Amino acid sequence: MQHLISIKDLDCAQVQEIFNYTKKIKKHPSKYCKKLKGKILTNLFYEPSTRTSSSFHSAMNHLGGDVISINDVTYSSISKGENLEDTIITMGNYSDIIVLRSKFVGDAQRASDVSTVPIINAGDGVGEHPTQTLLDLFTIYEKFGRTYNLKVTFIGDITNGRTVKSLSKALENGCELNFRDTYNVNDLPESDVYYFTRVQRERGSEGFYEMTRDMVKRMPEDCIVMHPFPRNEEIPRWFDKDPRARYFDQMQNGLYVRMALLLSYK
Ligand code: NCD
Repeated sequence: MQHLISIKDLDCAQVQEIFNYTKKIKKHPSKYCKKLKGKILTNLFYEPSTRTSSSFHSAMNHLGGDVISINDVTYSSISKGENLEDTIITMGNYSDIIVLRSKFVGDAQRASDVSTVPIINAGDGVGEHPTQTLLDLFTIYEKFGRTYNLKVTFIGDITNGRTVKSLSKALENGCELNFRDTYNVNDLPESDVYYFTRVQRERGSEGFYEMTRDMVKRMPEDCIVMHPFPRNEEIPRWFDKDPRARYFDQMQNGLYVRMALLLSYK
């Protein structure tokens, strides 16, 4: 049983295998519609989510499996004070895999210490978000055919954004990484990838920034602009039709990458 707590839990060969699978699934998704028939996934979310929870749900349904959703923990025994470990042990009796989003760094590790089924970390506070990283990497790979030897600039919330943490861990050995916080977004270095993020106000982050037409003019023609979403003001909607905008591809790839990941547990 392999838990996915950090992106570092996967080696290059495993990531490549997921990409190869993702490409095949993206071409013919219906071919895989019965592969996980009879399997059950628990979506256990202690923090809000649209894309991560829904794409896991959709991925499992596309593969013929079922989903138990605990998306609002106030309606579960967690509101009666149940601890994470007891909740995980319980859900391990009812399902074959648990996707966990939690409030604190280390929660996913704690869950995996007691779990009888694989735990997939869907974001642990300001810790990591490895499946977002897989879909981010796949989106980069689709454009450039590689995830190394690239210049990548992260913009926005560098301190509290878990997607930045996980993706930069995955890229740090083969790519040139730059970081720009909200107060110094005006001198963006020339890059292949611009990865924008929301200011995580719910985690105490402060600041404000917005992509300007001037910034866009200075970005190379063949770069890509990414964002894990949800966005606030940082990427205005007028940019959405620019061919460099890849955030809608990211969310679509989220489905196929998660289908590939779930199939790797079969
Ligand atoms: C991100 C998250 O939850 O970390 N969203 C996501 O999963 N796509 C980013 C964010 O909340 O800003």
